[in-house]
Amino acid sequence: MPIKKCIAALGVGLIVCSAALSFRSLSAAQHEKGEEAGVSKAVAHLLATSGSSVKGKVTFTKDGSTIHVHAEISGLTPGEHGFHVHEYGVWSEDGMASGGHFNPTGAPHAGPDAKKRHVGDMGNIAANANGNATLDMDDSHLSFHGANSIIGRGVVVHEKADDLKSAPAGNAGARLAVGVVGIAKP
Ligand code: CU
Ligand code: ZN
Repeated sequence: MPIKKCIAALGVGLIVCSAALSFRSLSAAQHEKGEEAGVSKAVAHLLATSGSSVKGKVTFTKDGSTIHVHAEISGLTPGEHGFHVHEYGVWSEDGMASGGHFNPTGAPHAGPDAKKRHVGDMGNIAANANGNATLDMDDSHLSFHGANSIIGRGVVVHEKADDLKSAPAGNAGARLAVGVVGIAKP
């Protein structure tokens, strides 16, 4: 009898153990699949705020450990304009519903090349004499995953140049266009 009981206990133990193991490998597989099928491209269409005629499109494309940013914006005054990812992906007439700069790490405001900066600090976009601006840059702070993910956040173009240092937002003035970062077909 004690031997039979012992065998029975061993059997139950084995079943529980193998069930736990297969559950674990299943969730690990799901996790890997999730990363494999992760976001590789995102797009924000910028819509003019009240009294502005600024509009454009910003494309974010994953390229290894960085994200390539390509922006085409029109309706600007010639010169530099602050260009950021803001906390909220919400357009409003004055652009203020997009909140402050996206800053999940609690860093100070800075320029795109600074080591410590808001994740959303993409610096400036420069418009030519016709008011058109294009930008191509590779950024290692922006991300499509985790706490630094820009998916669902806002992209904002400003009236004035970002001085890349003044807290909290580089003194870039009014918000001329706001877009929402959405997942795009790769
Ligand atoms: Cu901004
Ligand atoms: Zn900032």
